[in-house]
Amino acid sequence: MDEYFHIKGKKILVTGASSGIGRGISERLANAGAHLYLCGRDRNRLDTVANSLKGNEHQPLLGDLTSSDVQMKIATECEKLDGVVLNAGLIELMPFQIHNDQSIRELMEVNYMAPTLLLQSLIKKRKISRNASIIVISSVTSANFGSIGGTIYGSSKGALEGLVKSLSIELGRQNIRVNSISPGIIETEAIETLKKSLGEESFQNDLKKYPLGRYGKPKDVASAVHFLLSDSSSWITGINLVVDGGLTAHS
Ligand SMILES: NC(=O)c1ccc[n+]([C@@H]2O[C@H](COP(=O)([O-])OP(=O)(O)OC[C@H]3O[C@@H](n4cnc5c(N)ncnc54)[C@H](OP(=O)(O)O)[C@@H]3O)[C@@H](O)[C@H]2O)c1
Repeated sequence: MDEYFHIKGKKILVTGASSGIGRGISERLANAGAHLYLCGRDRNRLDTVANSLKGNEHQPLLGDLTSSDVQMKIATECEKLDGVVLNAGLIELMPFQIHNDQSIRELMEVNYMAPTLLLQSLIKKRKISRNASIIVISSVTSANFGSIGGTIYGSSKGALEGLVKSLSIELGRQNIRVNSISPGIIETEAIETLKKSLGEESFQNDLKKYPLGRYGKPKDVASAVHFLLSDSSSWITGINLVVDGGLTAHS
């Protein structure tokens, strides 16, 4: 079975590796034998993740990805990559009317500008191998599916999905694949924080919309990432893979 999902020895960059989905992705990829570059802002949490992973060759790369210096430092310090998982992001749900210039710009900076400019730096520095797989973590709240409070958050993710479509065409001739994954609610630190501000009850009601009867776990997204990084998905590019326990099956 392993031969179909072989990623042993592949060099893969994971952003947002210090928490939630990114940590789950890193655990899965390390268990499968990949060599990881782990990005995050919080030194303690990033080191804790790096030290807990299988294998000891993983490299933490610290910094705020909205900084062009950090984007450049990462693109300089990593070797040629077989995979990139652009997962770091900010989940902020609030009514459109409450948003202001700063909150809109912050969501677009963290969720769209930072991964886009990091990816461009990696490409310009020729750090993406032929045959590489690039994965962007979007959300079911994006261009095709809305949610209350998701106007700007969903816009930032919709912009990312637009990037995936055209970039997959531009990079296709180098056999570099570009795909996105759209998770439904995944139980992470970010969702714990949202539960505190929006209230547990609204989540209990929301959970009823999930046909499989549970929210996702980071490992559910990690499985999809593993597949898209492996040669088992070698003829898949430009898609958005929905991992949502059936949420968007509803009309
Ligand atoms: N959880 C969900 O239900 C869900 C659903 C759909 C999509 N998503 C998407 O999945 C991704 C991960 O979400 P999560 O729930 O795992 O969130 P999380 O637990 O809050 O983790 C977010 C990660 O992103 C990093 N990060 C945030 N802003 C950054 C910045 N400016 N520079 C560098 N790193 C930054 C954080 O680093 P530090 O901790 O070091 O600051 C952390 O590692 C996000 O893109 C989110 O939009 C999540």
